[in-house]
Amino acid sequence: MSGSSLSVSFVALVAFSRRGPFRFPKDRVNLALMYSPQNVVPWGRSFQQYRQMFALSDDDLGRRILGCADGPASFNAELTQKGGRVVSCDPLYELDAQRISDRIDETYEQVLAWTRQNRERYVWTGEISSVAELGRVRLEAMQLFLDDYEAGRVQGRYVADGLSNLPFADSSFDLAICSHFLFLYSEQVSEALHFAGIREMCRVAGECRVFPLVEVGSIPSRHVDPLLARLEDAGMATSVERVEYEFQKGGNEMLRVFAPGRQSGQ
Ligand SMILES: C[S@@+](CC[C@H](N)C(=O)[O-])C[C@H]1O[C@@H](n2cnc3c(N)ncnc32)[C@H](O)[C@@H]1O
Repeated sequence: MSGSSLSVSFVALVAFSRRGPFRFPKDRVNLALMYSPQNVVPWGRSFQQYRQMFALSDDDLGRRILGCADGPASFNAELTQKGGRVVSCDPLYELDAQRISDRIDETYEQVLAWTRQNRERYVWTGEISSVAELGRVRLEAMQLFLDDYEAGRVQGRYVADGLSNLPFADSSFDLAICSHFLFLYSEQVSEALHFAGIREMCRVAGECRVFPLVEVGSIPSRHVDPLLARLEDAGMATSVERVEYEFQKGGNEMLRVFAPGRQSGQ
């Protein structure tokens, strides 16, 4: 699939690789049509980082989890190895392991170079203390993902689809999580599409958690406040919660949303 509406996040990634970040073209609506997993700049986080970003308890890890926009994160690989039940859903999974690996090789140095130039936007006092360390940690996670990916695809743990129309029945999962897609690309992804994505996650899982609530550039997402009001109006219970993880400065909160009538994870 090459045209899911929420896939406009890739505008940022395409712009990143070709023109340098933050200089998004004015005609980004048209650019959205150019989205293709082939253009992705793969960048993935680890199980431990997911655990912190989403405040996942041991009980949470025993639930049926859907990871939306998981990309080359190793959360699925590592949780599966620990006996968990997890499915990841991302348009990227149209590509095979070799193609994703090639894209990592093609773009890795660009990502690090950009991070070096923008290092003041990040927190370097935690697990990741330098750009070199960042590269090592992200590569390690992506390698775990790659090692697991083809087997996981066969087992149905990696599903190629976008967030706006998840290919799962109502209540197929207990918890849906979405890391570094919604809110991060607020400039490119409209509030309406954020709403649709969160509603979809709540439909298939009853509860969803989204991290971070800051945009690229580490500024608070423009969509958070209007979206909270809209979700509440639609009968969904919401809370913004502080979590342990912070790498983008100020990116230390997640949004938790319950489907109507599902508060407290019932
Ligand atoms: C920055 S990566 C985040 C990867 C992973 N969640 C992590 O935090 O390490 C953003 C991901 O969003 C995915 N994406 C783009 N459009 C999407 C859509 N419409 N639905 C679901 N995922 C999408 C991309 O393929 C990419 O893997």
